[in-house]
This record gives sequence, C-alpha cells and structure tokens, in this order.
Amino acid sequence: MSAPPVSELVEAATAAARGAYAPYSGFHVGAALLFDDGAVVGAANVENASYGLSLCAEANAVARAMAEGRRGGLVAVAIVGGRPDAAGAVVPGSAPVMPCGRCRQMLHELAALGGTDPEVIGVAEGGHTRLPLSALLPHAFGPANLA
Ligand code: THU
Repeated sequence: MSAPPVSELVEAATAAARGAYAPYSGFHVGAALLFDDGAVVGAANVENASYGLSLCAEANAVARAMAEGRRGGLVAVAIVGGRPDAAGAVVPGSAPVMPCGRCRQMLHELAALGGTDPEVIGVAEGGHTRLPLSALLPHAFGPANLA
C-alpha cells in the first residue's frame, strides 16, 4: 500500500475536529489514524458537564477503530487541536498537540496488537512534530505483559 502524504492525514484530522463537542474548554481536537490497508479512522474530543469524564479525540479514534474490528495495522496518527474560527474550522496554536498520557497508552494497545510503532504527528501553526509512539511512551506496558 502507498501511504497517503502527511498533509492528507492532517487534513483528515482537521476534518474530524469539526465533530468536536467541547463547550467547556473551547479546545477542539481531531485525530486521524492511518492503517496499513490505507484506511483512515478519525474522531474528535467529546466533553461532559462532569468535566473529568471528557474523552480525547485520540481515545475516541482508537475506540472507533477497534469497534470496527481493527486489531493492529496502525502506521500513523495525526492530531490537530485549537480554537475554532468563526466558520468552525480548528486553528492550530503555536504548540503541537501530542497525545496525553492516557491516549498514548490507548494508541499503544492498538499498535501492539499488530506489532507496529506508529508515527505520531502533532500539528502546530508553524509545522508538525513527528515522533514514533515508542519515543512518547518508552517501555510501555501492554498486551505482551499479560500473555
Ligand atoms: N484533548 C484531546 O482531545 N486530545 C489531546 O491530545 C489533548 C486534549 C482534549 C481534551 C479536552 O476536551 C480538551 O482537549 C482540552 O483539554
């Protein structure tokens, strides 16, 4: 399979951010997961009046992909976050949005099932930060520990 360019994955994350339900923080996030068959699965953050129950875009994307039956094959993840403009399009800030700790663990579960080390692409106004998930979550606990 030929991977779509990073710009297309970032576009998918930007489109996914349109689904954000973030009335409390006002911070809209979209995540797009790229799989080795070329499929892209996107999702947005979903907040809750009980603030601590809010769900990140990456966690929702992992849950969506796994609920569709995916068990591995994760090759890249793009994340776009920021305040929406008047037209509702997310505007990235100066710092790239990289996954929070919980989301790193959730991404690791899906990646580990297929033995991949996906590239994580965090988007900022001035460019992207690109790192392998293993650099963001070294020595990860995962399915292998319970085998
Ligand atoms: N958020 C994400 O969706 N992904 C991240 O990587 C960081 C934070 C969400 C959670 C909350 O709805 C809002 O951004 C502000 O923290």
